Amino acid sequence: MSIADEQVANKSVPGIKPVKPAGGAPAFFSAWDMHAYYGESYIVQGVSFDIREGEILALLGRNGAGKTSTLRTIARMDDPKLTHGEIWLDHQPLHDMKSYQAARLGVGLVPEDRRIIQGLTVQENLELSQIAEPKGWSIERIYEHFPRLAERRNQEGTTMSGGEQQMLALARILARDIKLLLLDEPYEGLAPVIVQEIERILQGIKELGITTIIVEQNAVAALKLADRALILDMGEVVFDGTAQEVLDNVELRHEYLAI
Ligand SMILES: Nc1ncnc2c1ncn2[C@@H]1O[C@H](COP(=O)(O)OP(=O)(O)O)[C@@H](O)[C@H]1O
Ligand SMILES: [Mg+2]
Repeated sequence: MSIADEQVANKSVPGIKPVKPAGGAPAFFSAWDMHAYYGESYIVQGVSFDIREGEILALLGRNGAGKTSTLRTIARMDDPKLTHGEIWLDHQPLHDMKSYQAARLGVGLVPEDRRIIQGLTVQENLELSQIAEPKGWSIERIYEHFPRLAERRNQEGTTMSGGEQQMLALARILARDIKLLLLDEPYEGLAPVIVQEIERILQGIKELGITTIIVEQNAVAALKLADRALILDMGEVVFDGTAQEVLDNVELRHEYLAI
């Protein structure tokens, strides 16, 4: 048996990433048939997709389609609860992990509300993200890339503008050694000029080769950044293809993205 065949045969062995028989190079991230519930509410209804290392996937769909729930399932938050399916990241079984274990492995979720810690300065927010291994960028390096944060290092994080708080949320991620970045609506509530600034930062993160899933209502902005796109509707995948295919497909855009 080849290694790939063995891995297929050993699909359920922890620590060995299952490889799809037909599928070329194994994906860096795979979600297979995820089903997840908030209590009795069945929300994530059999979602499967792969991401190659360094790729950016735009996760799109109408309000309430299940995008945030899908990110939370991958980050192994307590809610929604994964009842079925497998989630693999860099040969590790995320489906068997709690959120703190996923975070330690390198899953970084930037939630919609950004979760800047109240009462702490910018500097303290950054230091706190480096309390646990594995560390990423040094704080000095972060300040070189985010001069605005350097200027505000002694300011309380939650008193900054929305755009600056989004920068801090992204900087905190870079302060850790991240394998999979999960961005939930990074442009939400930001003025167009700030959106452009965050776009530049995300482009920089893309150049670093960090594998990313970006959820955005601003589908055009997300598709500009993304290599691939996945569209969800009512908790199911209705499209999986390239970002360009979505931009070229008027019907798809009208039906699910209102663009
Ligand atoms: N904590 C929760 N408890 C119960 N249902 C929820 C909860 N959070 C979200 N939902 C429901 O799950 C569905 C998907 O929500 P969500 O994942 O937030 O969608 P999206 O991010 O695509 O707008 C919606 O019908 C929403 O009402
Ligand atoms: Mg959402």
